[in-house]
Amino acid sequence: MTTPPLFSALQVMQDAPVIPVIVLTDVAHAVPMARALVAGGVRMLEVTLRTPQALACIEAIARDVPQAVVGAGTVRSRADAQAAAQAGARFAVSPGYTSAVGQACRDAGLALLPGVATGSEIMMAREDGFTELKFFPAMQAGGPAMLKAWSGPFFDIRFCPTGGVTLSNAPDLLALPNVVCVGGSWLVPADALAQGDWARITQLARDTQKLQGK
Ligand code: 3PG
Repeated sequence: MTTPPLFSALQVMQDAPVIPVIVLTDVAHAVPMARALVAGGVRMLEVTLRTPQALACIEAIARDVPQAVVGAGTVRSRADAQAAAQAGARFAVSPGYTSAVGQACRDAGLALLPGVATGSEIMMAREDGFTELKFFPAMQAGGPAMLKAWSGPFFDIRFCPTGGVTLSNAPDLLALPNVVCVGGSWLVPADALAQGDWARITQLARDTQKLQGK
């Protein structure tokens, strides 16, 4: 049984120029952090499944911050996809791609941004029907030059480069026709979370509004 996702991967990508990649270690941080990002104009939030608290954080945001659309990052298995959907995630992001993860997200009703770093991975994701992909780790694996090279053979694929992206290098990536948005962790610094500095997170989100997504 396949449940249609509420949001397509393209809608997730087009909502704002930057998808924040979030690592949370304290459930108490989840809701004020999400509200701070929404206040700065960023509502598609990728909470990575990298900490024991991640699923509870997704659940809290889904329940208490209706203006946000919470997704799960670091989805690496069928179990991750199922747990993310159950916690209330609306989309998933994976660091790599397998057909099992692709199918699990479809079954769970989650839009998926599959991670790719090579031509073969792009071809596998495309064979399974995914044409909006995360390029990860983007700057380490070739950056804008790689995306330019891919635009020839993979003319029908759109990317969200993530990994090593900053406010300074984002414009070069966003200027490329095959880039819709970028992803990055800089909007939610660990020290801002630890200090409860929500105003700083709102400002970091606001700063991304001057970038041009598509
Ligand atoms: C990740 O999965 O860690 C993201 O790609 C974030 O990378 P960044 O910290 O370089 O933004």
